[in-house]
Amino acid sequence: MIKVIKEDITNLDVDIVVNAANKSLLGGGGVDGAIHRKAGRELLEECRTLGGCETGKAKMTNGYNMPCKKIIHTVGPIYSNKESDPVNLYNCYFNSMRLAWDYLNDNHLDKVSIAFPCISTGIYGYPKKEAAKIAIKAVKDSNYDNIDVYFVCFGDEDYQIYLDLLQ
Ligand code: APR
Repeated sequence: MIKVIKEDITNLDVDIVVNAANKSLLGGGGVDGAIHRKAGRELLEECRTLGGCETGKAKMTNGYNMPCKKIIHTVGPIYSNKESDPVNLYNCYFNSMRLAWDYLNDNHLDKVSIAFPCISTGIYGYPKKEAAKIAIKAVKDSNYDNIDVYFVCFGDEDYQIYLDLLQ
């Protein structure tokens, strides 16, 4: 299942929330800041043990004070119209889906729910519609039936873009 919702991702009671982080994994502004504020200090302490994260890669932590069980931190590309930008953005979603699949299998679950923000489209400046197309393609390509995916939009523009692309 793939759905688009307009919500503050830190309020969602899903299994996994994906964070649009930076390479340090030590917090920042935007959704990264909101997640760290909600999750609390213990999230930062766990992130400090991860040794950062490369663009396009993803790493999982506990959710702490967030309603979700786990947080996947992924680092989107800082948009500069390079050929690697869409590849790195695609990999953020694909690698996050793969970690969600591992979580489902490792915990012998029938179903896992995962919520994605619009990675790289805020501070990192990725054009919203292009990013949404890449996000949807990566999630569909991962083809994991027993993972329910929520694309979580914070603004009306993103929400309408995803609605149009998913109808
Ligand atoms: N819930 C859902 N979406 C949110 C929330 C929230 N609470 N806060 C922000 N967003 C949305 C933004 O509106 C945007 O659509 O998340 C999307 C991603 O924007 P950013 O958070 O700015 O992330 P990004 O563009 O990937 O830039 C990452 O910003 O916060 C820093 O540490 C982070 O350096 C990294 C950079």
